[in-house]
Parts: sequence; C-alpha cells; structure tokens
Amino acid sequence: MDSITIIRPDDWHLHLRDDQALVTSVPAAARGFGRGIIMPNLTPPVTKVALASDYRERILAQRPEGSDWQPLMVLYLTDNTSPDEIYAAADSGFVHGCKYYPAGATTNSDSGVTDLNNMHSVFTAMEEVGMVLQMHGEVTSPDIDIFDREVVFIERHLRSLVDQYPNLKVILEHITTEQAADFVMSASDNVGATITPQHLLYNRNHMLVGGIRPHLFCLPILKRDIHQQALISAAISGNHKFFLGTDSAPHTKGAKESACGCAGCFSHHAAIELYAEVFDQAGAMDKLEAFVSINGPDFYGLPHNTTNIVLNRQSWLLPESLPFEDTVLVPLGAGTTLKWKLAE
Ligand code: DOR
Ligand code: ZN
Repeated sequence: MDSITIIRPDDWHLHLRDDQALVTSVPAAARGFGRGIIMPNLTPPVTKVALASDYRERILAQRPEGSDWQPLMVLYLTDNTSPDEIYAAADSGFVHGCKYYPAGATTNSDSGVTDLNNMHSVFTAMEEVGMVLQMHGEVTSPDIDIFDREVVFIERHLRSLVDQYPNLKVILEHITTEQAADFVMSASDNVGATITPQHLLYNRNHMLVGGIRPHLFCLPILKRDIHQQALISAAISGNHKFFLGTDSAPHTKGAKESACGCAGCFSHHAAIELYAEVFDQAGAMDKLEAFVSINGPDFYGLPHNTTNIVLNRQSWLLPESLPFEDTVLVPLGAGTTLKWKLAE
C-alpha cells in the first residue's frame, strides 16, 4: 500500500496562543485538518462567550486563503463560571466545549477550578444542553508524585463525577496511562478520550535517558513504556471512544531549553503523519481513519468532514526548527524521518 485516502481528520485538542503567534499557529493547525478544538488557556483565559467570539475572529483572520478549516471554541471553567454562561455558550453555535483545568496543573491554568464540588450548577447546565466537558485529568496536590497525578485524579474525582452526572459528555484529554485507557473503555458512551502523538510515539525513557530532552516535556508527563503500549492498543483498537487530539502547543525554543522549561510539544508541522507512523508501525493503517476522522465528530455529535485527504508513502525529514513569533520553536520529532506524507 503506497497511498491511502481517508476522510479529512479533525484535531479535538490544540493550542494556538494569540496575537503574533497566530500568524504561524493557525495555518499549521489548518494543515490537513477540517476542524480544531481551540484550547482557551490564554492570559487572561477565555472564560466568556464574548471573549471566545473575539478570539475566534482573530483566529479566522489568519486562516489561509481558500481554507475551510473551522476553529471550534471552548470556554475555560473557573470557580466563577455561571450556568447562564453555559446556556449562552450552547446558543452561540461556535462554542463546543468547556475545559476543566485544575488550578495550577499546567501552562496558564492559575485561574482554573479549585474544587470540583463547587461546579454542580455548571455541570448540571452542561448536562442539560449537551455541552462537552474537556478535562485536564491530573490532581495538583504537592504530595502526589507527578507520574501518579492522572491515576489519582481518576480514582479521587473522575469515577464519582461520571457517576454523579451520567448524561454529561466527558473527554479525558491527552490520556497517558493504561489505567486511563481502561477507565474510558469501561465507562459509558458519554466518556471518551483524546490521545496525543507524543504519548503514542514516546515514553519517559526517550525524555530522560542519556540526558534530559526538554522538547518532550509535556503535561501530563510521558509515562513508562507499558503505558505507551496501552495507549497504542487503545488508539489502534478502532474503539469509538478514542480519537485524535494533538495537544499541539507552541513554545519558543528558549522557553523550553531553560532552567525551568515549560510544558508542551508542537506537532502541527506533521500531525497526521506522526499518527500514521504509529499506526503503520503497529500494522494498523486500516484503523487510522476511525481514530483521526470518525470517532471525534461522532462523540461531539458533529458531521464527518465531506472532503478527503491522501497520505503517500514517501519519506521526508522533519525540520530541526521552525519560525515562531520573532524566534523559533523545535517541533516534535525534529530531525527525524517519517514514512508517510500528506499530499498537499
Ligand atoms: O504540555 C502541555 N502544554 N500540557 C497542557 O496541558 C497545556 C499545554 C500548553 O498550553 O502549553
Ligand atoms: Zn492542551
């Protein structure tokens, strides 16, 4: 097989930043994709429908000419989010989810939710209107080891949350562990998960053995290889609960190669091809389309894209760096060779 044609994929989790960053992040996010779920962790965060509308306009201003790519907007939940904001979001037609960040969990999450128990009226409103809850599933207690934060979140919070709100559509974002994959598989059809290319391609040895590689540092952090294998199994299983969400997150080279480097991997230079690499290595190219193009829209209750993309078996070298803002970023897989390439 030297070429495959599949329904155009969507990215159900990505970061564009704002202002000058949009000049490069938006065309990259539109490369090969039909739609993208735009994470709201700006400073200040996108907490209101009016802010999401303004942000959407700034994004659309950078969309390449002739592209139909659609940004799907998200509200950032805080302790002060009101049920009325959820009803307004549902009425807007352009807000497709609300993001839960535990306060302090990751990049620009300081305004996140301090206690899930305070969110009852908001979650009830979301359940009522069918608004998707996108969860950064990690606890932030300082006594919990960073490698255990996702599993502890599931046991302490997620199990009871999905029991308490059985009709709430919940996505456990960027899952990183076997326990997360098992939890999602055994939960109801209202629970799904996104998986990033970095968590499928790498484990913590890639990040830490032989020297620290800051460009592989993301949150939730890469785990040991048994977890990487469990995520690959989930992605290639064809199970409708798992779908593509790159978590592509641009940070400058300098911000990552620092004494306190920030979390996030940029993958929009080659997103679909990075996933294709995983599916090809696993002998599961026939399952790629479900994961990248079908399961996500089905979960969100949106139509499949009506155009296709073509991937050709063609080796190509990923760049060492890319221009970003007034400097550069180092993309995921920099300097490595991939086997599949999107026909442009
Ligand atoms: O690695 C990450 N980077 N994880 C997140 O949750 C946020 C993201 C970012 O915004 O850079
Ligand atoms: Zn993210």
